[in-house]
Amino acid sequence: MINNEICKLLGIKYPIIQGAMAWIANGNLAGHVSKEGGLGIIAGGGMPVDILRQEIRKAKEITSNPFGVNLMLMMPDIEKQIDVCIEEKVQVVTTGAGNPGPYMEKLKAAGIKVLPVVASVALAKRMERIGADAVIAEGMEGGGHIGSITTMALVPQVVASVKIPVIAAGGIAGGKQFLAALSLGASGIQVGTRFLTANECTIHENYKNAILKAKDRSTVSTGNYTGHPVRVIENKFAKLILEMEKQGAPKEEIEQLGTGKLRLAVVDGDVDNGSVMAGQVAAMVNEKADVKDILESFMRELEEEKNSLIARMNSWQ
Ligand SMILES: Cc1cc2nc3c(=O)[nH]c(=O)nc-3n(C[C@H](O)[C@H](O)[C@H](O)COP(=O)(O)O)c2cc1C
Repeated sequence: MINNEICKLLGIKYPIIQGAMAWIANGNLAGHVSKEGGLGIIAGGGMPVDILRQEIRKAKEITSNPFGVNLMLMMPDIEKQIDVCIEEKVQVVTTGAGNPGPYMEKLKAAGIKVLPVVASVALAKRMERIGADAVIAEGMEGGGHIGSITTMALVPQVVASVKIPVIAAGGIAGGKQFLAALSLGASGIQVGTRFLTANECTIHENYKNAILKAKDRSTVSTGNYTGHPVRVIENKFAKLILEMEKQGAPKEEIEQLGTGKLRLAVVDGDVDNGSVMAGQVAAMVNEKADVKDILESFMRELEEEKNSLIARMNSWQ
């Protein structure tokens, strides 16, 4: 157990957040992560308001521990989603795809902790100025929508620029990377890809198997050309998008082609024609496991890696 500023801020046992994953991170996954001592996040982005309420209630049936909801701020129903979070007494909100400024006062007045996801120093500073409780600095190794800076380069720069706690995300799948994140100055980690093969993660088996099969160079970043880069496993769909980008196809045509493709992979299990979002550490995810075991192995490996590093450094002449 690390009772540091993030654990105290969020009321959790381990400083490990399960990152939001659209179509994937539901009340079941988030509830179990929070039950076992991390912070589970329900991916609210694009979720109809009544489904969001259902998923929040599902998480509450699993645990009375705090959990969070991720809000994509450009979504048309955002005001209603925020009202649901307040009515259901959600304790933490992470934000992406837009500026949380207009909603900050309302969220804070309801006692909700606000953690924006950032991919640059400038955005981190702005989020601190408008009252964020912490920021999640996400590097481009991670799965899903990404920025352009690596976790290794981004996290220490964000840490040096803000006084609020920083959580590192992107490329963290085990104790070595957990320890590295802490040594970069982060107070906690956010993890996505590693949870994709959790037994409590209710995605199609084909998606899980695609993660288990992945190697170091299995992911690519599509959408650089349209300005919305996304890290996915390279498959027929990703190759088609990359080829269209190379040919200079109209951006709208490329965006249009991406619509519904994450759902196709997650729900229908079409991992050839769907979008199999995953981070570069998919290669390090080699087993299906219970959420409890994933969280405990992060903490056990962190301790082992710390001791191993100290021993190695002490042996230097
Ligand atoms: C399949 C998938 C879907 C994702 N969807 C979202 C999302 O809806 N909102 C969000 O803020 N981040 C999303 N992310 C990013 C994760 O929350 C997390 O920050 C990221 O996965 C961390 O990097 P890692 O994959 O290397 O662990 C997604 C990631 C994955 C793998």
